[in-house]
Amino acid sequence: MSERKRIRTPGIEDLPDIPGSGGDVGGGIPIDAEVRVHDARADVPDEDLDRSLRPPTLADFVNQTQVTEQLAIFIEAARRRGEPLDHVLLAGPPGLGKTSLAHIVAAELGVPMVQTAGPALERKADIASFLTSLEPGSVFFIDEIHRLGRAVEETLYPAMEDGELPVVLGQGAGARTVTLPLPPFTLVGATTRSGLLTTPLRDRFGVSHRLEHYNADHLALIIERSARILGVEIDSEGARTIAARSRGTPRVANRLLKRVRDFSQVKGTGEIGAGVATDALEMLEVDAAGLDRGDRALLDTVATKFGGGPVGLSTLAISIGEEQDTIEDVFEPYLLQQGLLKRTPRGRVLTQRAYDHLGLPAPEGAASLF
Ligand SMILES: Nc1ncnc2c1ncn2[C@@H]1O[C@H](COP(=O)(O)OP(=O)(O)OP(=O)(O)O)[C@@H](O)[C@H]1O
Ligand SMILES: [Mg+2]
Repeated sequence: MSERKRIRTPGIEDLPDIPGSGGDVGGGIPIDAEVRVHDARADVPDEDLDRSLRPPTLADFVNQTQVTEQLAIFIEAARRRGEPLDHVLLAGPPGLGKTSLAHIVAAELGVPMVQTAGPALERKADIASFLTSLEPGSVFFIDEIHRLGRAVEETLYPAMEDGELPVVLGQGAGARTVTLPLPPFTLVGATTRSGLLTTPLRDRFGVSHRLEHYNADHLALIIERSARILGVEIDSEGARTIAARSRGTPRVANRLLKRVRDFSQVKGTGEIGAGVATDALEMLEVDAAGLDRGDRALLDTVATKFGGGPVGLSTLAISIGEEQDTIEDVFEPYLLQQGLLKRTPRGRVLTQRAYDHLGLPAPEGAASLF
């Protein structure tokens, strides 16, 4: 996500890993360094981590069976007919597996994948050069598809629907439009904000799925698989302890696993059980609900500066020094899902559960907002 590039908060992710900890190089971690575990605040090392831990097949992709079972059928049917798969839209919060699934779709179809992102496609010519150079049957993956410019999006419509690319030749009164046939392809679009997609674009996807947050059992499976790949010894209680605090998000689970591993190598035996996992997560300031310092700062700000809300998004963003997009993409999905925050037409409102979590009394009259 390009939101990542706007993130400035320095975190432990920016720092080199402990020498000898799974092939990473560097000069050790200051244990008291500020630590952020949110997705959109990630940096390049996490992209490497994503890549190395990405599940290669549908069978390795944990959970989301409502998505994977359907995709498996559509992929098999397309393969038997020798046709490209219908266009696929994958929506959901960051780190839940959209990019992984796009890779898996291409791998399961046995076709090449070409990848780009909405903000990289500025002009019609940008998308035209991608489309015309695709190998027949390819998966064309557009990440952050909600950030396509209008002209680019309109070029996509006939490409998706009829496999054609309209090209304007000449200028002024003599200009005329010709249509170029395109190689058959499957567009896979990923978005953290499906609400921002225009209806004509959304309607052109034959298959549309929304990925949901993962429960702790599924996250524990992902952590155990990642531990095997990273060569980390972890028992099931250790995996469950990390899973319970991973914000329902595989990417966070993988990142916490890596940080707990570092902690265990320095402060423990290198093996991860419930005890060392709990101590490490305490140090990382990830609480029992999986909230980190940033989440708690957001809830605390709404409670103490805005009397529990309602508070508008832009005001809240300024108050906590975050981008609005980051609040909407990264903080809110989990806080809403956990029932800690509510969106109302007048702004964001804390719930009773949030006050309980913060250990603060709800203000008089707040109950009418819950
Ligand atoms: N279902 C899953 N099973 C196993 N691992 C998973 C699964 N989903 C995600 N992961 C892990 O989480 C990491 C992040 O997933 P991915 O990059 O696909 O998320 P994303 O939805 O594309 O996020 P973003 O919106 O930030 O681009 C992957 O590298 C992978 O290791
Ligand atoms: Mg992605």
